[in-house]
Amino acid sequence: MDYSKILDKYENSVVLITGGAGCIGSNLVRILLSGSPRKVIVLDDFSSSYLWNLPKDNRLDVVEGSILEEQKLKQVFYERPDFVFHLAAHFANQNSIDHPETDLMVNGLGHLRIMEYARLTEPQRVFFAGSGCSVYGSHAPIPFKETMVSLTLDTPYQIHKLLGELYCNHYHETYDLKTTNGRFFNVFGPGEVPGPYRNVIPIFTWRAMHEKPLLITGTGDETRDFAYVGDVVNGILRMGVFEKAVGEAINLASGKETSIKELATLINEITGNPAGIEYRPKRSWDKSNRRLASIAKAKELIGYEPQMEFKQGLKNVHGWLKSYKSNIVESIGPSAGLW
Ligand SMILES: NC(=O)c1ccc[n+]([C@@H]2O[C@H](COP(=O)([O-])OP(=O)(O)OC[C@H]3O[C@@H](n4cnc5c(N)ncnc54)[C@H](O)[C@@H]3O)[C@@H](O)[C@H]2O)c1
Repeated sequence: MDYSKILDKYENSVVLITGGAGCIGSNLVRILLSGSPRKVIVLDDFSSSYLWNLPKDNRLDVVEGSILEEQKLKQVFYERPDFVFHLAAHFANQNSIDHPETDLMVNGLGHLRIMEYARLTEPQRVFFAGSGCSVYGSHAPIPFKETMVSLTLDTPYQIHKLLGELYCNHYHETYDLKTTNGRFFNVFGPGEVPGPYRNVIPIFTWRAMHEKPLLITGTGDETRDFAYVGDVVNGILRMGVFEKAVGEAINLASGKETSIKELATLINEITGNPAGIEYRPKRSWDKSNRRLASIAKAKELIGYEPQMEFKQGLKNVHGWLKSYKSNIVESIGPSAGLW
């Protein structure tokens, strides 16, 4: 994908990315550094990511610490970032069911602190990583449009992702902070290390690489909107500079629906996994049978157009997991492949 036109807008700027070592953040860092920013600052506590996932570059400043730590926030905001991409989060649904207070602290209070420092330092834009898998609830009509937000949500993570958007809107309305809410769906691509709380694609691919059956919780007819990380980063960068995105919530997705059975079959085919598929009961909180985003608003306001063909994206994940296998095994330890 050609990012050059959009990267020109970030020339000579200072960019702060919270959660920049994570799946989406590390891709955003790499793509930004392929342009000419003055400095990219990552604030990450490495609670669900690893330093090896970040490139080495003398324009990259990695600050290890939490978005809850005032000292670290003072340090990174002292640089007066022109752009703030707030991606750090306690991720995701099952993790928040198991650790609801941590979820509130990081995704609620941590987010509020980012907003406060942004209010004081006035960056050109504050992008928030919201979640279209969260805020529409389980029963919105297909495709999900930005106006359909639900107040009946299924997990603390979903509730706090909505809270994050509400804080952004409050800071925009009250202090004229230039906030923008990106609503991601199931983002996938190189850079996501598999683990018990991670997304289905790295978990399935990792299991397939170990010739284990892919475990589907449900019938497999459930659908999701899988968005390739390179496309999502393109959308994030556009939301960071397009004036029309200010004060708006915008779906960043593929606009296509894929069933979990179809996904599992494709991954077994790509990896040559002979172990097949096994079915398990649905998780109690998972009430969402279909997910499909409307990307009409993203097209209209920021010219967003996803490019990656789905199967090629899955092959890229497989390639990345193979290339980084030893780092991953070292990082996630002997439980690798068991979830
Ligand atoms: N991946 C998806 O499918 C998806 C979907 C919807 C929304 N999102 C949101 O997008 C953002 C990025 O997602 P991701 O897939 O890259 O997740 P990720 O877990 O890979 O990245 C999150 C990063 O935040 C860091 N982090 C966690 N707590 C922190 C804290 N207290 N202080 C500083 N850093 C902290 C983690 O170490 C990690 O590097 C998150 O806000 C997530 O909720 C992701």
